[in-house]
Amino acid sequence: MKIAFVGKGGSGKTTLSALFIRHLAHAGAPVVAVDADINQHLGPALGMNEAEAAALPAMGDRLPLIKDYLRGSNPRIVSAETMIKTTPPGEGSRLLRVREDNPVYDACARPVELDGGAVRLMVTGPFTESDVGVACYHSKTGAVELCLNHLVDGHGEYVVVDMTAGSDSFASGLFTRFDITFLVAEPTRKGVSVYRQYKEYARDFGVVLKVVGNKVQGQDDLDFLRTEVGDDLLVTVGHSDWVRALEKGRPPRFELLEDANRRALRLLQTAVDATYELRNWERYTRQMVHFHLKNAASWGNARTGVDLAAQIDPGFVLGEGAVVRV
Ligand SMILES: Nc1ncnc2c1ncn2[C@@H]1O[C@H](COP(=O)(O)OP(=O)(O)OP(=O)(O)O)[C@@H](O)[C@H]1O
Ligand SMILES: [Mg+2]
Repeated sequence: MKIAFVGKGGSGKTTLSALFIRHLAHAGAPVVAVDADINQHLGPALGMNEAEAAALPAMGDRLPLIKDYLRGSNPRIVSAETMIKTTPPGEGSRLLRVREDNPVYDACARPVELDGGAVRLMVTGPFTESDVGVACYHSKTGAVELCLNHLVDGHGEYVVVDMTAGSDSFASGLFTRFDITFLVAEPTRKGVSVYRQYKEYARDFGVVLKVVGNKVQGQDDLDFLRTEVGDDLLVTVGHSDWVRALEKGRPPRFELLEDANRRALRLLQTAVDATYELRNWERYTRQMVHFHLKNAASWGNARTGVDLAAQIDPGFVLGEGAVVRV
């Protein structure tokens, strides 16, 4: 199950991603955590100290390795150089699974021990000016998108991405790669305006978008969110002393998280799991092809000097039954 946390800067994306990851790990579920946010804070939010977080390998620096592994023996993708962030898998491509060891995890993922279990953490690495543009060849989130487009995840397996709702994710199609997107919003006009914009993009692509209200204090905040986002409001989280203690460098045990917030996390998982029924691998594959053609035409063909439309394998549908040829 692929889950994105998006929202305005400072709304609590990283905090809620980290809490949800802790909740899943505590429940014994396999988790791959991905930090694709401009402000790379997921490692520290999962309890890493500065030195440990700084030592994490950046996916953005390992794009050639990721591309070479994923293209495998796919005859339509002649080199890693011609593989762009939207290049879809086809016959001969290697696929990724949540529970396995593979060279991509070896190079990019590090284990993080949490109460109840370890998760794999992957980080895009710090963003530069050129990563925030729309037509970016070396985009950091491109590595995440390639992994998601080659990932065959099943029920009870989780990939949680702490992400920015930036224009590049709309241009590349990254925003369509999730079973569910949690939009973290504080009860403010700015928080809600990010929701409206996201909803607008999401409309034509069957994106499941739910709002998680954060830093909600009392009835007036709740009423405000309810009025502004209606039924898309899934749950709200209040100020958490547990989170504050973590920020002070005194991480409490996960069991000590406030009851109301633990309930909220359970509700998030229920919402995630319920989307399994809505899965449609055929549509998922079709959307990656759609965005690949769009990116090929707008910058990819010119950038690589080849016709990237030829990379599409018309007979290929990604899915849990997909055959991996290694
Ligand atoms: N429910 C909460 N209770 C207490 N503190 C919170 C809560 N949610 C977020 N915070 C605090 O608010 C600050 C911003 O949260 P966080 O870093 O998660 O936001 P973000 O959306 O990831 O921000 P950025 O855009 O900078 O990545 C942090 O200091 C965090 O500890
Ligand atoms: Mg953040």
